[in-house]
Amino acid sequence: MVVESLVRPIIPRLLGEKGFIYIAKAKELAAKGIHVVNFGVGQPDFRPPAHVIEEAKKALDEGFTGYTEAQGIKELREAIADYLNERYQAEVSPNEVLVTTGAKTAIFMSIFALVSPGDEVIVPEPSYYAYSEAARAGGAKPVFVPMKWRSGEGFSLDLEALESAITSKTKLIVLNNPHNPTGSLFSPKEIEALYELARRKRIVLLVDEIYDNYVYDGEFRGILEQSGWKDYVIYVNGHSKTFAMTGFRLGYIAAKKEVITALRRLAVNIYSCAPSISQRAGAAALRGPWEPVKKMIEEFRRRRDLIYEELSKVPGFEVAKPRGAFYIFPRIAKVLKETGFSTEEFSEKLVEEKAVVTLPGTNFPDKAGKGFIRISFAVNREDIVEGTKRIREFVEEKLTEAKK
Ligand SMILES: Cc1ncc(COP(=O)(O)O)c(C=O)c1O
Repeated sequence: MVVESLVRPIIPRLLGEKGFIYIAKAKELAAKGIHVVNFGVGQPDFRPPAHVIEEAKKALDEGFTGYTEAQGIKELREAIADYLNERYQAEVSPNEVLVTTGAKTAIFMSIFALVSPGDEVIVPEPSYYAYSEAARAGGAKPVFVPMKWRSGEGFSLDLEALESAITSKTKLIVLNNPHNPTGSLFSPKEIEALYELARRKRIVLLVDEIYDNYVYDGEFRGILEQSGWKDYVIYVNGHSKTFAMTGFRLGYIAAKKEVITALRRLAVNIYSCAPSISQRAGAAALRGPWEPVKKMIEEFRRRRDLIYEELSKVPGFEVAKPRGAFYIFPRIAKVLKETGFSTEEFSEKLVEEKAVVTLPGTNFPDKAGKGFIRISFAVNREDIVEGTKRIREFVEEKLTEAKK
């Protein structure tokens, strides 16, 4: 057999969902009847709003089950443009929107379309892994720039370091706001400074705002509020997080019409169109009512407050209160130093001994997450109380053992 020899060497080297390793362990424990607290999840534990489900059913009943326009149905592109224009005065027209099969496809296609082999893509780190992997798949080099961390404050952009990382090969800088995995919400000042840097250096920003409705404190400055953004920004968003629609696989790109035309060509060649039923449901989602989303976010705010309070009691943990997304990213370096565990060992032993799933910061995806763990609070409050209690017990036990 020679077929395997044809697989491009980069492909087996791309990162996957490393989180699944821990989830497999958790499943083993659950099969033994142990109650597992899964802080590894990256999706809301809510159902989509009722009117979204109704619209999906209606689309099915009406036989709206064929291919659609590759760019996405007009109804959905109009709803997306209206949403962005109302919220950000973005001046987006429906023909500047491309509907994709999830935000991940949007990220992959945008990066793949814009970089050539040898180019560089700057990724502030820690980071969701999809950006660097899309760059690598396209033959470009991800250049990780560590963010700044301050006790009590968490992570912020290091604008000087970002500027220093720019070379003649730099094509894109990635911005994810609110931020996975750190829960940071970058300040309007940071956003404006980054945008100015991109303009000055004539570099495009790939901006992923998929958590734009998960904002708890502080001001969220959408990139589409920047005047002239169309020359410098490829904007990615989607329905997965806001409407708890991960399995519908619905995302979108907003960009200058010429870019959308090129990306549409790519879309036709890859997936023809996003699922027809999901598109109808997605249009209904954006049209509202938004009350179910607001209620869900209020619940996430309560969870955020609870998890912050509980994790602050864990000895050796340095915790910043997340201002966005649904992740908290404590620094556990002091515990690692005392116990001799690596970041990965901490998460492994925690799942083995206490049936609590967390993700090591080193999953995100290079070095800057070393000494941190990501804890998702897309779980109910009972599990937050139980899971954080187990984490505290685990750390106390390990610190006591280390002192012996
Ligand atoms: C920052 C970020 N962007 C994109 C995605 C992917 O979203 P989708 O499920 O719509 O592909 C995720 C999912 O975890 C994410 O955290």
